[in-house]
Amino acid sequence: MRLTLLELNITSFFYSELNKMSFPVIAFYSPVASITQDEKKARKEKMAIIIERYKDKVLALPRKEIDTNIYLCKYQGFWYHHGFWLHSNANFSVEAIMASQDEFQALPTDVFLASQVKSGTTWLKSLGFAILNRTKFKIDKDSCATHPLITTSPHDCVPFLESESFLHNPSYANGLMATHIPYTSLPQSIISSDCRIVYIHRNPKDVLISFWHFMNTLREDGSSPTKLDDMFELFRKGLNPYGPFWDHAIGYYKASLERPNKVLFLTYEKLKQDTYNEVKRLANFLGSSFTKEEEDDGLVQEIIELCSFKKLSEAHKGNKDGSHSSNGIYFRKGIVGDSVNYLTTEMIKTFDEITKEKFDGLNISF
Ligand code: A3P
Repeated sequence: MRLTLLELNITSFFYSELNKMSFPVIAFYSPVASITQDEKKARKEKMAIIIERYKDKVLALPRKEIDTNIYLCKYQGFWYHHGFWLHSNANFSVEAIMASQDEFQALPTDVFLASQVKSGTTWLKSLGFAILNRTKFKIDKDSCATHPLITTSPHDCVPFLESESFLHNPSYANGLMATHIPYTSLPQSIISSDCRIVYIHRNPKDVLISFWHFMNTLREDGSSPTKLDDMFELFRKGLNPYGPFWDHAIGYYKASLERPNKVLFLTYEKLKQDTYNEVKRLANFLGSSFTKEEEDDGLVQEIIELCSFKKLSEAHKGNKDGSHSSNGIYFRKGIVGDSVNYLTTEMIKTFDEITKEKFDGLNISF
């Protein structure tokens, strides 16, 4: 199976030839440990090579300055950072997407958890990982403290496809991966291999507020925080990483209608409102339905509690991940509708109008 590649410690990223060999179906998933200093260095060197490789292609793209000396470029209809940004973090740069498109070979058994940033990625990663690994990592009151979601983090357990392109460690082989890449820009092999994809969507107003807080928390250079008015203007024009937000959702939504057995469209709001049934729906879609016995034993509820905002945010207060920030940064309030506490009536009206216009004729609700 592909996991044995990890054990063999094959360090080359370009192992697509190996993927063409027939490996048995992945039976379990393994968390990726937080990266060491050496791996960090290797990742940075790899980033530099990839950034150089796509230099000309990126230079030819349309660019917009969104902050002093910070540019986004437009690739295949969506906006991205490019090169090194956020203190050398290039994980989500356009070059990472180009490299994923060129190199990544999916297996039919791979599962992708897709989202726009700040839409519930961490929650979906937690639920997906807990559900698919419930035999390997038992979930009950006694074992919760030793579960990888608690001892490492949801982001260690489910790596991002695009950021993994910078690692020598082929945790590509993990089988369960996340991505922010828009549906229409996914590596072709994900579609042709018929992989399962779960998308989580969230009310754009709450996403904006969550993103605004997140980006200001990430600032480590003492520069003044971005004003909400400025962030609002950029977001509304689609000028945020992986934006326009609405087009991102539409791509996955349409795919979920065209390929319902392969693409599942969830919303953060419904997951909050009807967690039990949505978790069961997720498990069914992943081909890992709960048995009657599991349900009777309260396993669904145990998974919900393990993956709850309360449990995970308490567990990760102050933990350091492998990069620049604390894992606690992924947990703020975890509620629906917080945007009303920040947006003016005018801003809400503008966003509602954009949403109505963009989602016209589509049954996307939240
Ligand atoms: P808020 O900033 O509104 O609190 P992402 O994981 O895509 O980065 O999204 C982050 C948002 O999801 C944040 O929203 C965060 O608090 C919330 N979140 C993180 N983990 C969660 C969980 N287990 N349950 C519910 N919400 C969660």
